[in-house]
Formats: sequence, C-alpha cells, structure tokens
Amino acid sequence: MGWAEMEYKKINKIGTDVEGYLSVIESMKDIPFEVKRFYYIYGVPKMRKRGFHAHKKLEQYLFAINGKIRIYLDDGNVKESVLLSKPNEGVFIHKGVWREMEFVEKNSILCVLASHHYEEDDYIRDYDQFLDMVCQGYWKE
Ligand code: TYD
Repeated sequence: MGWAEMEYKKINKIGTDVEGYLSVIESMKDIPFEVKRFYYIYGVPKMRKRGFHAHKKLEQYLFAINGKIRIYLDDGNVKESVLLSKPNEGVFIHKGVWREMEFVEKNSILCVLASHHYEEDDYIRDYDQFLDMVCQGYWKE
C-alpha cells in the first residue's frame, strides 16, 4: 500500500449562504465502503491522544465535526499526520494503518464511519505486533 492511498479528502459542502452549510458523505461514492457503523468521540482533554492501534480489516473515514484533531498515520513504512480543522475535511484510513488521534482543541468531536461492526478481534493494539504483521505482508494483496 502506498502513502497516497491514506487519502485526505474534503467532504462536499453544499450551500454557501448565511443560513449555513450541509455536508454529505455517501457510501461507495465519497468513501470506498458501505458504512456499517457510526460512532463519535468527545470530551477528550486538550492535547490528549487516543487510538494507538491498527485494524486487520476495518476501513474508516474520520472527520472532526467540531474543533481540531490531528490524526497521526503510520503504515509501517511511512508516517504522516493530518490536521482535521473544519467540519468538511476528513481522512480515509485503510486497514493495516496504525493511528493516533490528538485532540488539539477542547470540545473537539471526532466522528467515525466504519466498514464493519465492532469486533475487538480486529484490533492490533501492540505496535511491535503491528510492525511484524507489516513485515510478514499481512496486508499485501
Ligand atoms: P477504541 O476503539 O479503542 O477507542 P480509541 O481508539 O478512540 O482509543 O474503543 C474504546 C473502547 O470502546 C474499547 O473498549 C472498545 C469500545 N468500543 C465499542 O464497544 N464499540 C465500538 O464501536 C468502538 C469503536 C469501541
């Protein structure tokens, strides 16, 4: 997997008048999977991080509906970070990518669209195990 696939993508923003905006995300159109789950993370103290895991098969789309959240991504070869700072910006995260989410501002809210239902068995929570799986070609086609 190349870095380019860890794509930072703008969500559509419809309407630019004084009465506000409407952003929309459609499965298989704006994101390359059918959404099976939606969850959101909030109330995280400023500058604290969550995440620290990768997924075996789960794909996700992250966006900050409020505030600013920095997303650190690591595919075992390339590390990159993306600042989500507007409600119409999001990042698609492939399976097999280690992620950490830093809540840069108080009251930031992270929304997540996910390709599968919750399965604890899909998580890799040990970084060395993640690197071993990358080396063994676990996510290679
Ligand atoms: P986790 O995904 O580890 O959160 P983060 O990566 O933001 O630190 O989830 C935290 C806890 O919540 C963990 O015990 C599993 C549980 N959880 C569910 O029960 N269902 C879900 O859909 C999610 C995402 C988490």
